[in-house]
Amino acid sequence: MAQFKMVVLPGDGIGPEVVAAAVNVLKAIEKKYNHTFDMDYQLIGGIAIDKTGEALTKDTLSRCKKADAVLLGAVGDPKFDVPSALVRPEDGLLGLRKGMGLYANLRPVKVLPMLADQTNLKPEVVRGVDLVVVRELTGGLYFGRPKRRYTTSRGRRGVDTMSYSEQEIARIAKVGFELARSRRKKLMSVDKQNVLETSRLWRQVVIEVSKDYPDIELEHQLVDSCAMRLIQNPKSIDVVVTENTFGDILTDEASMLAGSMGMLPSASLAGTPKEGVKISGMYEPIHGSAPRRANQNLANPIATILSAAMMLRYSFTLLKEAKAIEDGVLKVLEEGYRTYDIMTEGMKKVGTKEMGELVAARV
Ligand code: IPM
Ligand code: MG
Repeated sequence: MAQFKMVVLPGDGIGPEVVAAAVNVLKAIEKKYNHTFDMDYQLIGGIAIDKTGEALTKDTLSRCKKADAVLLGAVGDPKFDVPSALVRPEDGLLGLRKGMGLYANLRPVKVLPMLADQTNLKPEVVRGVDLVVVRELTGGLYFGRPKRRYTTSRGRRGVDTMSYSEQEIARIAKVGFELARSRRKKLMSVDKQNVLETSRLWRQVVIEVSKDYPDIELEHQLVDSCAMRLIQNPKSIDVVVTENTFGDILTDEASMLAGSMGMLPSASLAGTPKEGVKISGMYEPIHGSAPRRANQNLANPIATILSAAMMLRYSFTLLKEAKAIEDGVLKVLEEGYRTYDIMTEGMKKVGTKEMGELVAARV
């Protein structure tokens, strides 16, 4: 029996619904395995702006830093998609990532056997895909300065800055190598070194770090070519390590291998996960707030449920419990239950809440 402190940030759009489904599953774990998950609910994103004027208050960030783990739904609301908006829901998420020092974002892409025939790709291409993208999360274009819009005598300009230090590259490369070591021992480092200075540094530093990992087969790919490889031969990929923006784009693409954005979980960590060692982190589905799907009991909560499983594994070191959730998801899918996004003929269509209940009943 153990006690853990969580901060729960449902956020915007479908966030509250998918989080409620995952919390339902966590409650089943608490009961069955006799643990206590203290859940401190706080605001983030558009709803936080509406209620506090800020996308993430200092108080919320400090609670997150003190917790064992943070479970997050999604942020984003189209009403803030206007050039005049001074603060955006996404600022809350970026502030949380930066504020907690979560530089390593793990995005596993596993094609579940019963969904392999149901993606937009040929089943023989996606069947058996099992890869992880390690996305650098606190650097690059997202955070580089200067970052602004301004008016010159010849009109408006905008600038973002892509910048990386060797330390930032080395630490994320290490996460990639360590993860590869625990898997099939292949690491693909993705950059755009034929054009970008940051990428030329990236490649150099990754090669330097690789000296400590002679057992890992290292391959370099340009990001455009990696985008192609992901569709052409995704089974050949084990671990990908890449910078922030490339990782953002490649993981939306990779989610199509699994059938839906609604299937991909993620863990954002401040270090390398090691088996049996607790590491604080933030867990969220890779999808957004999908405002058009919100409040209709439609959204697929599996990505969030699987994120909760990653939380149990990395932040609470509850390995058996994490596996119970993952197996529960598999069982429910085997039994033919599907949310709208992965629905096919002959399957049983269920909503967000029901999907959560079905998994909860099988842990
Ligand atoms: C993601 C999302 C976020 C990102 C958005 C919501 C800011 O797309 O987690 O992939 O770009 O990182
Ligand atoms: Mg994204």
